[in-house]
Amino acid sequence: MDVSVALPPPVVPGLTGLTVLARGGYATVYRASQVSVGREVAVKVENRAFETDRDQRRFVREAHAAGRMSSHPHVVDLFDAGVTADGHPYLVMELCMGSYADRLKVAPLQPAEARDVGVKIADALADAHTLGVLHRDVKPANILISRFGEPALADFGLAVLAESRDATVSLEVLTPAYAPREMFRSGTQPAPGGDVYSLCATLYALMRGRPPRWREEQNPSLISLMNLFDQPVPDLPGVSAALLDLLRAGMSNDLVARPTASGLRDRLAALSLPPIPASQPVPVQWRPAVSWDDPTHRIQPAE
Ligand SMILES: Nc1ncnc2c1ncn2[C@@H]1O[C@H](COP(=O)(O)OP(=O)(O)O)[C@@H](O)[C@H]1O
Ligand SMILES: [Mg+2]
Repeated sequence: MDVSVALPPPVVPGLTGLTVLARGGYATVYRASQVSVGREVAVKVENRAFETDRDQRRFVREAHAAGRMSSHPHVVDLFDAGVTADGHPYLVMELCMGSYADRLKVAPLQPAEARDVGVKIADALADAHTLGVLHRDVKPANILISRFGEPALADFGLAVLAESRDATVSLEVLTPAYAPREMFRSGTQPAPGGDVYSLCATLYALMRGRPPRWREEQNPSLISLMNLFDQPVPDLPGVSAALLDLLRAGMSNDLVARPTASGLRDRLAALSLPPIPASQPVPVQWRPAVSWDDPTHRIQPAE
């Protein structure tokens, strides 16, 4: 039995009316009201209380990476970070409408729309790399859509800072569909080109409806996954060769053959693509996986 659904929401100082937006293995994200300034926010609360120094370092790293990036127009704004009275760390953020993983459930994106997402998120990554932050988990579920319909990079839970020495990442936390080959090799130092790979795999997935080379919904075994890296990235109907070749370059197995994040941004921006046809408007009626207004998802406050 999943006992977590019966638990009352956490008590986060200054926030009321917490309702679940998304539940993950490590954290739960709630919508809430920030009483002092009268606005709606999102708060991500770790499922586990701090137990070890390592837990604490990991959280401080996420908060600092998110904070350092926060003022970028295509990064989710971070308002505050802290620890609840019972020891669960939390981040208070700008409330977004959902993620591109939610959006993909409605329909794949037109090339011009995927390109626009790419230009904006590549710019956020270029800034991150300049500031010494590697994101390491770029994928559709970690690119949110702001209240204004703009893409915003989120989830710095795997990020590393140039000055920190704790850069190893365990295989279990990787999202294999979007991780570059070098991440599966132990002892590889993370590099900015890893984020470029993941963004290109993400843009390809946004147009295809599933990750590059992925056949099934479920994850392949590690061995067949490693073989996938040697297979070509196929053409996509209606997507220009120029865009596909740029994404293929970004997904090269050779780290140094990939463009930098700023190079990717500039090359994406320079592509001339057909505008989104008026007969196929981008669906705007999509909703997050967990609806904010659905009372069945509302967790009653503790008596
Ligand atoms: N600021 C936010 N506004 C709206 N939804 C959010 C926000 N932050 C996270 N979410 C939702 O919660 C999900 C998980 O958040 P994320 O930070 O990616 O945590 P995890 O580390 O568990 O992946 C996201 O994919 C998105 O659906
Ligand atoms: Mg995430």
